[in-house]
Amino acid sequence: MTFQNIKFEKHGRIATVTINRPDKLNALNMATMEELRSAFSAIKEDAEVRVALLTGEGQKAFVAGADIGELSKHNTISAKEYTHKGQSVLDLIEDMGKPVIACINGFALGGGCELAMACTMRIAGENAKLGQPEVKLGIMAGYGGTQRLPRLVGKGLAMQMLLTADMITAQEAHRIGLVNEVVPQDQLMKRAEEIAAKIIANAPLAVQYTMEAVNHGMEMTLQEGLYLEATLFGICCSTDDKNEGTKAFLEKRAANFTGK
Ligand code: COA
Repeated sequence: MTFQNIKFEKHGRIATVTINRPDKLNALNMATMEELRSAFSAIKEDAEVRVALLTGEGQKAFVAGADIGELSKHNTISAKEYTHKGQSVLDLIEDMGKPVIACINGFALGGGCELAMACTMRIAGENAKLGQPEVKLGIMAGYGGTQRLPRLVGKGLAMQMLLTADMITAQEAHRIGLVNEVVPQDQLMKRAEEIAAKIIANAPLAVQYTMEAVNHGMEMTLQEGLYLEATLFGICCSTDDKNEGTKAFLEKRAANFTGK
C-alpha cells in the first residue's frame, strides 16, 4: 500500500500508523481520513497484526484537528456527508476487534482529540495538549466529541472542554481520565510497545471479545451488558486457547496461544 498522508509500518505483530502532514500539524483532510480507513481496514484483516499504534509525525502534533481549509468550503449537505464519512473511520478504529493505542505526541485538538478518543487507550507525551476548540470556529465537534468525551471524563468536564474550547495539558488529561498515562516524549512509542507486548501475550479471541463486551456493553443497560458478557464468556470457553490457557496455568508453564 502506498500513502501520501500517512505512514504505515508493520513490525511483527504491531502495526504503526503515523499521520504525516507535519507542515499542517497533521490536520485531517478527507484524503488523510480515507488513507486511515484503508490502513485500519488492512490491519483488521491481517491476522498477523495484533495491536496498532497511532501517532503523528514530528514533535509538535498528534493531530491539530480537521483541516480548517477544507472545512471552510462546506455547505449543509456536504458537511453532513463529510461528518458521516469521518465518523465511520473512527468507528472502524474503535470497533475492529484489535486494540489501537493512541500515542499523543503533541497537540490533539478537535478531530485529533476525537481520533484519540476512538482509540482503545491513550498514552500522552509530556508536551501533549488536548482540546475541542470547534466552537471558536463557529462549529461544533463532529467526529464524536460530544459523545465519546462525556463517556470518558463525565458530562461536567466534557461540557467545560467543549464549551470553553480550552486546551488542557497532558497532566490534566491524565487527572480526568482522558489519557491513561503521561510519559516523557522520547519514551512514548517505547511505552506503547510495552503495553502492546503485554496484550499480544494474551489470548487473541479473549482480547477481541473483551473489547466487544466493553464497547457494546457501554451502550446497553447493565442487565443487557451482563447478558452479552455471559454469552461471550461462553464462546471463550469453546476455544482451543481456553484449554491451553487453563492447562498451562495448571502445568506451571507459559501458554502458547493460537487464536483458535
Ligand atoms: N487545519 C489546517 N491547517 C492547520 C490546522 C488545522 N486544523 N492546524 C494548524 N494548521 C496549519 C497552520 O495553518 C500552519 O500552516 P501554514 O504554515 O501554512 O500557515 C501550520 O499548520 C502550523 O500551525 P501554526 O498555527 O503556525 O502553529 P502554532 O504553533 O502557532 O499554533 C495551534 C498551533 C495548534 C495552536 C494552531 O495551529 C491552531 O490553533 N490550530 C487549529 C486548531 C483547531 O482549531 N482545531 C480544530 C479544527 S475543527
